[in-house]
Amino acid sequence: MLVRILGASAGGGLPQWNCACSKCQAARSGVIPSLTQSSIAVKAGGKWFLVNASPDVRQQLERLRNGCEDNIRSNPIAGVILTDAEIDHTNGLMILRESKQPLELYGTATVKQALSEGFPVLRTLTNYCGVNWTVLETDASLTLINEQSSQLKVEVFPLSKKPPKYMAQSNDDIWAIGLTFRDVATGGVFTYAPVLSELTDSLRERFEASDCILVDGTFWYNDELQRLGISKRTAQAMGHMPLGGSDGSLQQLKTLKRPRKILIHINNTNPIHQPDSEERMSVEAAGLEVGYDGLTIEL
Ligand code: MLT
Ligand code: MN
Ligand code: ZN
Repeated sequence: MLVRILGASAGGGLPQWNCACSKCQAARSGVIPSLTQSSIAVKAGGKWFLVNASPDVRQQLERLRNGCEDNIRSNPIAGVILTDAEIDHTNGLMILRESKQPLELYGTATVKQALSEGFPVLRTLTNYCGVNWTVLETDASLTLINEQSSQLKVEVFPLSKKPPKYMAQSNDDIWAIGLTFRDVATGGVFTYAPVLSELTDSLRERFEASDCILVDGTFWYNDELQRLGISKRTAQAMGHMPLGGSDGSLQQLKTLKRPRKILIHINNTNPIHQPDSEERMSVEAAGLEVGYDGLTIEL
């Protein structure tokens, strides 16, 4: 199985269009790499499966065209798996409207409803390429269908009950899921968790049973946005466990033995973007890696 980080940043990207913080300025001047918004791709033979469709999907798909057929209108992806209905994970669906075939989308019924009502991109796409939706059930698994006999199984597990901001009424639904991919041929196991609201025992077991995890690195501080005068919303209120502090995710993730641990969905406010920051050094000292666009893992 191949796993490629297409976008290691959280929503907004690095730099963000309306930000002149030290990280965004450093990215603008080329001192640190720019990052596109949250997305990865996975495959085990055949075409890639895109996981989340970010607003940067057009440039991200260019990273998947190597080996793609050279006929007119060739498509590098077999389908798009959505882990939630957030704008940074779904806005790119609109960019995919040029598809010659109906888009093969995978997501929970909750996400489908959000994309039919609050942010009705599915309705819009019906008049362009059309959509085939495969419902993902939490705590279930399925084999991903590809043009080659597929060897990729995916398991769905719950991650967060935080609805997107555009969904006015909140309910008790699971809004964000995580995914564990298993390559039947190689035995490789990979887990993707772009949202982490708490590290439960069952999540810890799942991570410990994986060869590699890509995991929520959105914020360092719980009050990161407030410190910068951007917003009063805390990391926790947004469904993201902060990395820092004695009860932060870093202290817990560093004790995992088996998996290679890579942070993704890193907000532009997070000090770990700066290679010489104390926070970045503690991530590296804890044996975790900071993800970047284009990083490819073979399992
Ligand atoms: C998140 O990851 O929490 C969301 O994408 C934030 C948002 O865009 O509202
Ligand atoms: Mn996000
Ligand atoms: Zn910034």
